[in-house]
Amino acid sequence: MGRFMGSLPRKARSASQSAHRPLTLSTKTPLCFAFFEAFVVPCFAMRCPIHSFTPVLLTALMLTACKPASETRATAPPLPPEVQAAALERGKAIAGQAFALLSTNLARAIGEGGVTNALAYCSERAYPLTALVADTNQVRLQRLTHRPRNPSNEVRSAELGILREFQLELGRGGQPGPVVRAGADSTVVFYSPIVLTSPLCLQCHGAVGTDIQPATAALLATLYPQDQATGFKLGDLRGLWRIEMPARRGTEP
Ligand code: HEC
Repeated sequence: MGRFMGSLPRKARSASQSAHRPLTLSTKTPLCFAFFEAFVVPCFAMRCPIHSFTPVLLTALMLTACKPASETRATAPPLPPEVQAAALERGKAIAGQAFALLSTNLARAIGEGGVTNALAYCSERAYPLTALVADTNQVRLQRLTHRPRNPSNEVRSAELGILREFQLELGRGGQPGPVVRAGADSTVVFYSPIVLTSPLCLQCHGAVGTDIQPATAALLATLYPQDQATGFKLGDLRGLWRIEMPARRGTEP
């Protein structure tokens, strides 16, 4: 699948990526999160005097509306510990391979022609490189984010909760670790945080004008007119690895 998808044009890739089936959560879950973030959180945060009771009412409404989703989650069979452990181990190894491959190629492209050259290179090659790792390991591998550069990497709302958990943990000064969830059709899904730890990343994802040079910013504007992936600082969560694989126990094939 990976090699095949790697040769698809960007639009087709995005369509095939979004063909992903949601996991065990009902479609109400994302709506509930969106609702909570859009109405309840701002009212609380601003201590809004007009709507002082609104958050309470909205929360009660939201809890009612969300009930079917949490019921769906509660009835999802728990993963056997050995399946969970095998997926964690495999996921970490595959994410490590993909990260190493991307980093090596990025460093080489910068060495050969500077950041703008690397930017063009990443734009062309980031997807085929991750697809190659996916293909080799027979898994579905994605880098997803709340602030996408490439719109086909935008995290789906059903999985935004996992990203937010990573973010909260980072905000508490902790180090979020990978998690595994049950997937559809006897699959498991591994998620691990992508945190910006290298100043190198800021040359294309940091502050425009300071970390990002004008020539890079100009090329970004041309290649990604809807780019949301700038303004990050070291230690920020950039996104997550999502790896969907068949559920296995230990080393069974
Ligand atoms: C030379 C510029 C450049 C550098 C340096 C760079 N990136 Fe990126 N990054 C890109 C481009 C271009 C894309 C979009 C690739 C695509 O279209 O698939 C991207 C996409 C991503 C994505 C996928 C999500 C999205 O927004 O599309 C992640 C995650 C990411 N980069 C993390 C990093 C990390 C971590 C580092 C440092 C190790 C880094 N990047 C360094 C240019 C760069």
